[in-house]
Amino acid sequence: MTTFRSVNPAHPDDVVGEFPAHGPGDVDEAVARAAAAQQAWARRPVPARADVIAAAATVLAGAKARLTDLVAREAGKILVEAGGDVQEAVDMAAFVAGQGRTAWGETIPSELGDKLCWTTRQPVGVVGLITPWNFPVAIPAWKVFPALLAGNGVVIKPSEHAPACAEAFVAACVEAGVPADLLQVVHGYAEPAAALATHAGVGAVSFTGSVPTGRQVAARAMETGPRLVSLELGGKNAMVVRPDADLDLATDGAVFGAFGTAGQRCTSTSRLIVHPDVAGDLVERIAKRVAGLRLGDPRDPATDVGPVITATSAERIGGLVAGAVGEGATAVTGGDPVSVDGCGGAFFAPTVLTGVRPDHHVARLEVFGPVLAVIEVADLDEAIGVVNAVEYGLSAAVYTRDIGAALAAVDRIDTGIVYVNAPTIGAEIPLPFGGTKHTGNGFREAGTRGIEQFSQLKTVYVDYSGRLQKAQIDTHPLEEDR
Ligand code: UN1
Repeated sequence: MTTFRSVNPAHPDDVVGEFPAHGPGDVDEAVARAAAAQQAWARRPVPARADVIAAAATVLAGAKARLTDLVAREAGKILVEAGGDVQEAVDMAAFVAGQGRTAWGETIPSELGDKLCWTTRQPVGVVGLITPWNFPVAIPAWKVFPALLAGNGVVIKPSEHAPACAEAFVAACVEAGVPADLLQVVHGYAEPAAALATHAGVGAVSFTGSVPTGRQVAARAMETGPRLVSLELGGKNAMVVRPDADLDLATDGAVFGAFGTAGQRCTSTSRLIVHPDVAGDLVERIAKRVAGLRLGDPRDPATDVGPVITATSAERIGGLVAGAVGEGATAVTGGDPVSVDGCGGAFFAPTVLTGVRPDHHVARLEVFGPVLAVIEVADLDEAIGVVNAVEYGLSAAVYTRDIGAALAAVDRIDTGIVYVNAPTIGAEIPLPFGGTKHTGNGFREAGTRGIEQFSQLKTVYVDYSGRLQKAQIDTHPLEEDR
């Protein structure tokens, strides 16, 4: 079998592991094993499934230090953020375990006597998960735990940049009591992902990644039959700073939002939309903070910004920045890939671009790197227009002390998540996560709705009247209407 290597993005000569590049036959086997195990799993009472997921929270929490180091080593996230990634998985397991002991259907009064009506959820069988490298433990957790709670088997195809994190996450789940056959991993590039998304035995496909790949996954997934397909595809997240805002707070938010995780979150702040009265001051404060950011090995606690995932990624980000400069923008900080002493990996200098117009490429495309485009606007109406003038709709932030302006922005911004006086990153587990427009197709992850992408509703009617009762007809006989 062909294999591929996962390497440390800060030190590409540090091989984290060698993994098999699976093909369609391996995907067949994985789906078959998960499907066989799913039969017994689906017969377990929901609270019994929840108990296993609660145990996974404990195992993951116990392994936090080891997993954190692995996330830093394989995905290049700095230690505090790698720890946050693992904590998100712990929180998700705890949340989903609790959900197993709450209502997940409704009872609805019948229009007829002696009749009961309710809804419940049923599993779809086996779910296929295709997950990215940037939250290599958290995003698998967002998908795996609700899928398991709903009674499904799971086959996961993690990013080729984070296979070891996925294996470690799955091992923790198995240690906690998830039957090994129920939760399978396949590795590789596009081939196993496509095989999984089109597999006749897969009842739901959940994908997090880029828009072009997501479109392909969804189109291919529907070729072999209708199934649930949920997409979580990137963002072009904006922070609006009004002239009355607390600029210290806005500076903190912009620096963390734009340069945290080296800008490689789907929620990263990528546009700063600001009034000319405060733009100069705010950019100066941000630039000053950027000058103090230490690029380096993500496993060194002194590092603020780690590498980007690959040299190709650094080149792509550089191309977008050069394009912006060609269109008239100015890089007041950064602008280029940089090398870091002692690290052979690819780094990109945190970049603040001023003089960006909403029609510039860098103002419309997802950069997925540490680049903040500053766009000046005259007022809140124009700001909201600019926020909404992109194809994405994941998250947005507004910084203001004016409650009316804040609520008007919350009301009119077309994104799935809006923050007031907080940056565009930092979603919490019990709340729904997802976006509008090209960011997704309407499903939400996490929160109580996270289970919807992995289960089908069943509506149940029980008539205990002992006679044929006819809805709509017995209640309103035609002669009454005459
Ligand atoms: C992602 O970048 O794909 O809100 C997910 C956040 C994180 C999740 C981001 N909790 O930034």
